[in-house]
Amino acid sequence: MRMIASNVKLDDSCIIHHRDLVNLYGCSIGARTRIGTFVEIQKNVVVGDDCKISSHSFICEGVTLEDGVFIGHGVMFTNDTYPRAVNADGSLQTEADWIVIPTLVKRHASIGSNATILPGITIGEAAQVGAGAVVTKDVPDGAIVAGVPARITGRVHDRSVNMQALGGMR
Ligand SMILES: CC(C)(COP(=O)(O)OP(=O)(O)OC[C@H]1O[C@@H](n2cnc3c(N)ncnc32)[C@H](O)[C@@H]1OP(=O)(O)O)[C@@H](O)C(=O)NCCC(=O)NCCS
Repeated sequence: MRMIASNVKLDDSCIIHHRDLVNLYGCSIGARTRIGTFVEIQKNVVVGDDCKISSHSFICEGVTLEDGVFIGHGVMFTNDTYPRAVNADGSLQTEADWIVIPTLVKRHASIGSNATILPGITIGEAAQVGAGAVVTKDVPDGAIVAGVPARITGRVHDRSVNMQALGGMR
């Protein structure tokens, strides 16, 4: 079975260790980006250059990851605030019955393992989302957020993180 669909735009420099253990279709993946096992990336997702997407993460339609973004293990994106299987008349929903709500993760941001990102969120440049957070509001550039719902707990430049990776952000 082919697990990277022929309609995926995949740069030759991307690293996908187990190509038969990912599910990628209709998406675009930038140069040097690394993708772990059991990752699903849906159609119309754009992943920038130099990203790292750890195992078991789900990146749904409507998500854009800018360059240098880190996605931890088991990160869940969402694109529908009130999802339903069926319409009011009981008929099965199709793509025509709902609208994808877009999400943007700006350059060099990092999302901790098992975080859930609700629809329509922008995660700012170099921001850090804590493990297990449920992100319900936009995250400012350089902020650290954690918890359920996620709240700002600090700034990355106050921590001993790799400042080079933050592009000198203050
Ligand atoms: C949030 C995080 C970035 C730490 O940020 P920090 O500002 O340095 O936080 P600290 O360790 O100083 O902790 C500050 C407070 O936040 C709490 N905290 C830390 N991480 C938390 C998290 N993920 N969720 C909820 N609370 C958290 C701490 O318990 C502490 O609480 P206290 O003040 O009541 O004692 C980090 O804990 C984290 O979750 N990193 C992501 C790790 C990860 O998923 N890596 C993926 C690949 S291995």
